[in-house]
Amino acid sequence: MSENSAFFSVRDIHAYYGESYIVQGVSFDVAEGEILALLGRNGAGKTSTLRTLARVDNPALTQGEIYLNGQAVHEMQSHEAAQAGIQLVPEDRRIIGGLTVEENLMLAQVAEPRGWSIEKIYDHFPRLGERRNQEGTTMSGGEQQMLAVARALARDIKVLFLDEPYEGLAPVIVEEIEKILMQVRDLGITTIIVEQNAVAALKLADKALILDMGKIAFRGTAAEVLENKELRHEYLAI
Ligand SMILES: Nc1ncnc2c1ncn2[C@@H]1O[C@H](COP(=O)(O)OP(=O)(O)OP(=O)(O)O)[C@@H](O)[C@H]1O
Ligand SMILES: [Mg+2]
Repeated sequence: MSENSAFFSVRDIHAYYGESYIVQGVSFDVAEGEILALLGRNGAGKTSTLRTLARVDNPALTQGEIYLNGQAVHEMQSHEAAQAGIQLVPEDRRIIGGLTVEENLMLAQVAEPRGWSIEKIYDHFPRLGERRNQEGTTMSGGEQQMLAVARALARDIKVLFLDEPYEGLAPVIVEEIEKILMQVRDLGITTIIVEQNAVAALKLADKALILDMGKIAFRGTAAEVLENKELRHEYLAI
């Protein structure tokens, strides 16, 4: 088992949208409780990589292996990956319209295995408690992002994928979300964060991966990316 000894291990994955070859041999390991920043220019394949790892149908994984704690995620369908503890919070957050904050949370708790109780969520996200009876989609972008993360925690998750969680949010709200993500890390949950705001993502992350045209252009620590001017200019525009 030594080759799969990392908590979350991605081995040479390849994925296609129809004929379009997008994820072109990506490999990396993440330790339990670690935060990985997955960075790269627009169209580099970040979202596609997250979707492939969460076993969403499109893009289709054609080759490669994904292990969570030794379990073969590459052999799972998306609902099985969710049961195994993988949750993707997509860029659009998918808050369900017409439902209150609490109803959105209750819906997330229907699926087994269950994670945090509604009360525990309100303890950690007091803002959501205050707004429990408000329709979720009428909240601010930052509050909706909190709800999206909280909803993920309503499942018993082991790995959290966040696609551009800071998009469209004011810096003070980004700081609030960062605090929540630090709490998530303290719970031992492994996080992969995709962000255009590379500086914010790197501040939080232990490790960083830069994707370019579906391949890994750099892997290292977050500090190494911040210190490397060429890398920052070429791939991150910072
Ligand atoms: N549903 C799809 N069908 C076909 N091609 C797609 C589809 N979704 C994305 N692509 C293509 O796959 C490539 C990678 O897209 P992806 O969305 O993964 O990039 P990204 O790194 O997340 O970019 P961004 O920073 O803009 O979100 C792009 O060339 C894109 O046009
Ligand atoms: Mg994307």
